[in-house]
Amino acid sequence: MISARGTTEKVRRGESPSKEELSALVGGYLSGAVSREEMTDFLRAVCACGLSDQATIDLTDVMLRSGDTLTFTPREYPYADKHSTGGLADSTTLIVAPIVASCGVPFLKMSGRKLGHTGGTIDKLELFKGLRTELTVEEAERVVDETGVAVIAQSKDLVPADKALYKLRDETNTVKSLPLIASSVVSKKLASGADVLVLDVKTGKGAFMERVEESVKLAALMTDILFASGKQAAAVISDMNSPLGDYVGGVLEVGDALDVLAGKRGRLRTLALVLASHLLSMAKGIPLADAEKEAEEALASGRAEKKLREMISAQGGETALFDGNIRAKYKKNILHSVRAKEDGYLAGIDCVSLGYIARDAERQGAYGIFAPYKIGDFVKKDAPIFTLYGDAPVTEDIKERLEKAARLSETPVPPFPLVYEVVERKEPPRRS
Ligand code: URA
Repeated sequence: MISARGTTEKVRRGESPSKEELSALVGGYLSGAVSREEMTDFLRAVCACGLSDQATIDLTDVMLRSGDTLTFTPREYPYADKHSTGGLADSTTLIVAPIVASCGVPFLKMSGRKLGHTGGTIDKLELFKGLRTELTVEEAERVVDETGVAVIAQSKDLVPADKALYKLRDETNTVKSLPLIASSVVSKKLASGADVLVLDVKTGKGAFMERVEESVKLAALMTDILFASGKQAAAVISDMNSPLGDYVGGVLEVGDALDVLAGKRGRLRTLALVLASHLLSMAKGIPLADAEKEAEEALASGRAEKKLREMISAQGGETALFDGNIRAKYKKNILHSVRAKEDGYLAGIDCVSLGYIARDAERQGAYGIFAPYKIGDFVKKDAPIFTLYGDAPVTEDIKERLEKAARLSETPVPPFPLVYEVVERKEPPRRS
C-alpha cells in the first residue's frame, strides 16, 4: 500500500520514489486523499534533499497527465511560447510576444499569476481595463487568427496538479527547488500546444535558483525533457541579481514594457530581443543572426508596439496605457525616496525583499517602485536609489524595509552579465 508518508520518507533518505508512488501522491492530493500537511512535508523533503533526474521526469509526466494536452490549428510556422522561472521587474512577455507575432510566428501563451516575490504576466495584463485573460483555447485561437498573438490565463484543465502545487508552494515557501521548478515548468509547456519554446532561467539572489551552475543544470534538464518530447527549446540563463527593468510593481512594469516598445533602451529590451530571436530562429529554421535582425527591426519600426495594441484590443482591453501622458500620472506622487548617503557603487539589492515590498505597497494602493540602478552602477550622493510612487499613503514599515533593500560600496563593484549562457535543444537551421 503506497502512503504519502512512505514516499516522503524515501525522498528524505535520498532514494528515488517510483512513478506509481509519485502518481498516488499527486493524484491523492488532487482528490483530497492526501492532506495539505502531507503534501507540504513532501515538498519540504524535495526542497531539502532533491530528487533524481528520473524521479523529476516521472513527476513531470504525472503532472502532465493530470489534465488536458492542447493542440493548436497548424499554421505556416509552429507556435512559439516563452516561460520565465520568475524574476523581478520582468515584463519581457509583453515585448517578446508582439515581436515574434509581428514577424509572422504565431504566439499563444498561457501565463501565471504572482509567485513568491515575483510578478505574474496575467496580473499585468489585467491592468489593461476590460482585458479578458480567462479565454478558452478556441477563443484564444480566434485572437491568434486576428492578430497572431494571444496571452491567456492557464486554463483550469491544463495541468491542474501544477495549479494546486504552485499555490501550495507559494504559501509554504517551497518554491526554491530544481526538481519542483523543472516539473512545474515542463509539464505546463508539454501540455500547451506550442512547439517552439524559450525558457528564461533566472539566476542570482533574486531568482529561485541562486547559483549559475544550478541554473544551467535546471536549463539542461528542462530542455532535454522538452526535446525528448518533440519540442524545440532554448533556455537563456539570465541575471537576477538586480531587477531586470527599471520598475517593480504591476502598472509601472507594464509602463516599462510599453516604453521599450516605444524605443527605450536598456536591459529589459536587450533580454527581450535575445528571447525573441531564439524563438524566431527555431520557429523559422533560420540562423540566429538573421533572427536577431528581424527582431530588432520589428521593435525599431514600431510593428511590435502596434501588434501588442492589437492583441490587447482583441482580448477586450482598453489601450489607454499606451498613452505616455496617462502612464505619467502613476509617477506624479512620490511616497518615499531612498537616497544614497554618500557616493558609492551599488553592491547589493535585496530583490526578494523588493518584490515583497512592492507587493505589500500595491495592496495599500501604491503603484510601485522606480529602481533604475543595477549592481556595479555608480550612485552619486543624494541620488534616489529607490522611489516609491502612489496616491495613497503607505505604512512606515514599507518605507523602513525599502531603506534596507540596497547596499553601497565605496570601492568599484563588477557588474553581472545580463546573459550567462544559452542551452539549446533544437533542429539545425534549414537555411544559412
Ligand atoms: N515558474 C513556474 O511555472 N513554476 C515554478 O515552479 C517556478 C517558476
